Amino acid sequence: MVADEPSGQMDLLLEHLRQKASAGQTHVWLSPAARDVMRAWHQARRGGPRVPRESSGDARQARPVAAVSAAAVRAAGSADVPVPPAAAVWPEGAPEAGLTEALAAVRAGVLACPVYAALRARGALRDTMVFATGHPASPLVLVGEAPGAEEEKLGEPFVGPAGNLLTKMIVAMGLDRSKVYITNIVKYRPVIEEGDQGSRNRRPTAEEIAAGLPHLRKELAALRPRVLVALGATALEGLAGEALPIGQARGRWRTFDGIPLMPTFHPSYLLHNESLTERRKVWEDLLQVMEKLGLPISAKQRAFFRT
Ligand code: URA
Repeated sequence: MVADEPSGQMDLLLEHLRQKASAGQTHVWLSPAARDVMRAWHQARRGGPRVPRESSGDARQARPVAAVSAAAVRAAGSADVPVPPAAAVWPEGAPEAGLTEALAAVRAGVLACPVYAALRARGALRDTMVFATGHPASPLVLVGEAPGAEEEKLGEPFVGPAGNLLTKMIVAMGLDRSKVYITNIVKYRPVIEEGDQGSRNRRPTAEEIAAGLPHLRKELAALRPRVLVALGATALEGLAGEALPIGQARGRWRTFDGIPLMPTFHPSYLLHNESLTERRKVWEDLLQVMEKLGLPISAKQRAFFRT
């Protein structure tokens, strides 16, 4: 029955919206048809204009349910009309106190972690902890592998040459680095034993990744971003448990604890391989991320790094 469809579908829609709200989402995109459905439903709830009967003889149609056609309801909630994802909400101002406290607890957990302590005592990891940078309420979280020499010096992830390139990538997406959250799987710089380590860095081992993962999981549970990007094979291995060459894995969505995850090349790979083809691959992955976040994409952006 047409008159019952809207109220049943509204219950489902309301439940869906409640779930989004409890996950921290504050805005949704509604098509004009969906807005009509909601307006009519709202009026009906307030005892507003009665619905003109579509046919006679059915007592249920006498209820002021909604002045909505079945087609409008279908258009609002089905594949008849492609509904773009709601644009992500970008943070303004300081994060909520609860989020700051939750992250402080994760940070304290890293500092007190006996597994990390054992790796440091054994000389596998250095002693300076580098936690994360950016806005904790960001819908976008970028995950790298571990801090290097520059990061250790400044206490911030991705501030060396790879970090500079990462910042350019963020800007190319039309974003401000301070509105994106950037972290690493492993929060301490891995040690290179032979000779003086100097500015040399190495990838974390599987054991070091395993030490970092429980903390990263808690960090992401506090952040609940809309989209995650794994920068390089180590981040992908940590987040998705896939020890695949990143060249094979990149560009295809996965999930981590229910959060969409896009693997792409680590910016340091691009520093050593500056061909347009490789840069284009990373850019295509980032275009997918922009689409998922509902970010505007200009024709110029779509054409970046095309040969
Ligand atoms: N590479 C990473 O993976 N993380 C950093 O923080 C710096 C370089």
